[in-house]
Amino acid sequence: MSFYITTPIYYVNAQPHLGHAYTIIASDVLARHMRQRGEDVFFLTGTDEHGEPVADAARAQGLEPKELADRNAARFQALAPQLEASNDFFIRTSDEPHMAAVQAVLQRVHDNGHTYKGIYEGWYCPRCADFKVENEILEGNLCPIHEIRLTREQEENWFFRLSTFQQPLEQLYADHPDFVMPEHHYNEARSFIGQGLQDVSLTRARLKWGVPVPWDSSQVFYVWFDALLNYYTALSYARPGENLTTRFWPATYHIIGKDILKFHTVFWPALLMAAELALPHHVFVHGFLLGADGRKMSKSLGNVLDPFEVIDRYGTDALRFYLMRDVAFGGDGAVGMDAVDSRYESELANEYGNLASRTIAMVSRYRDRLVPEAELDPTLAAEFEVLPSQVSALLDCAEPTQALELIWQRVRRLNRYVEERAPWQLAKEPARAAELDQTLASLSEGVRALSVMLHPYMPAATTRLLEALGRSGTAFTAARFGTQNGGATVRALEPLFPKHT
Ligand code: ME8
Ligand code: MG
Repeated sequence: MSFYITTPIYYVNAQPHLGHAYTIIASDVLARHMRQRGEDVFFLTGTDEHGEPVADAARAQGLEPKELADRNAARFQALAPQLEASNDFFIRTSDEPHMAAVQAVLQRVHDNGHTYKGIYEGWYCPRCADFKVENEILEGNLCPIHEIRLTREQEENWFFRLSTFQQPLEQLYADHPDFVMPEHHYNEARSFIGQGLQDVSLTRARLKWGVPVPWDSSQVFYVWFDALLNYYTALSYARPGENLTTRFWPATYHIIGKDILKFHTVFWPALLMAAELALPHHVFVHGFLLGADGRKMSKSLGNVLDPFEVIDRYGTDALRFYLMRDVAFGGDGAVGMDAVDSRYESELANEYGNLASRTIAMVSRYRDRLVPEAELDPTLAAEFEVLPSQVSALLDCAEPTQALELIWQRVRRLNRYVEERAPWQLAKEPARAAELDQTLASLSEGVRALSVMLHPYMPAATTRLLEALGRSGTAFTAARFGTQNGGATVRALEPLFPKHT
């Protein structure tokens, strides 16, 4: 089956920060997991380069918009490999083929009669590049996201008849309760639609930095329509000489933060309907990462967690693990270096890392590096039995935190197993050699199976560990406890998560 997953494309008016890394990492975990299952995966991320925010930021720095875009897009492009993201393409909305495809789709929307010329006036946030409707505006005429003063703007431009999609959208939501996930965001989007939809402006007259409107050269498209279409246009040119659209469209998952819910759950499906394109299966909306003090992260509050600092200190796997573990995906959560330190120490170093090194050390010491062939412990086997299907069911629903929790319970279980079986005692009693064989075989097999399931979360550490265990396969079928039974030769392993003193 095909599995197409996307992150938002990020504004190039600023540099990459933890929030951007977060959505990329979560999406990457899902993409890697689906590849393990043999699905036909396409994973897209990229940059959103047009519109007022970028034009304004460039102006402030005395640059042309394209210069600023090139400079910052390069930073986002470099971010993906730093996070070990396995994206299949990186789209930039300044790419020529993207722009041409945007024009073609929106020309069709126009030809289908879903546009008209009108005067738009409204309260506008230049940072969002978005006019705000009355019920979103904060007291004092402030942007609900940026808390900066909105300005009153008026211009003649083209409108998209969003209001005519009210009923079709209501039908979509009634028919597909999992169109927006998790449920509270489904409810939020549905009630937004239920309150009545106003038409929205589709183009901008004042702005130059955008995709030109093919039927009206005095205008460019409003950046959000240009941006949303990236998910569709990328497939047409990501592989030179090949069109991936029929293979991957519609998207399986758009993963987004809750700040851009309205665009993805209301505008986007309506636009696709207007263009007669198939709708995505799911929009998954995650929460905000907050400072350790529970407030919005901001430089002035000094509560920002820098992803590059975490990577320098503990490595990329630790950052990925921490973000998927400490914040329930779908909700908001406070993050900070103290919490990273403590998860690293207590879970990565003391639990998983220690389990790995003691398993390999005992096989080396007591069985001359050869994992014994023995009947696996039936109690453990029973406890591991349902795990792979539970993990894949949760990841099908974009629940990486819950899946990780289930896996982690088994990491802890194996550490308890070591204590219960006390192999160092068994090794002293030759009459109990069979018990020792079973213990070592079960432990090695458990660590191996868990590492296969942990692979999408921590690709580097699990690869090293699986190689040291002499069983490097990461296909998800190998997540079953009992797939491999003994016979492998283990190799010495440097600590996966060295302690910092
Ligand atoms: O909105 N916590 O781009 P953007 C969690 N270009 N996630 C966060 C976050 C935080 N504190 N801060 C940012 C745009 N994010 C548009 C999108 S899509 C067609 C166009 C993540 O650079 C989260 O994914 O402002 C959020 O939705 C996104 O960055 C916003 O990135
Ligand atoms: Mg933003």
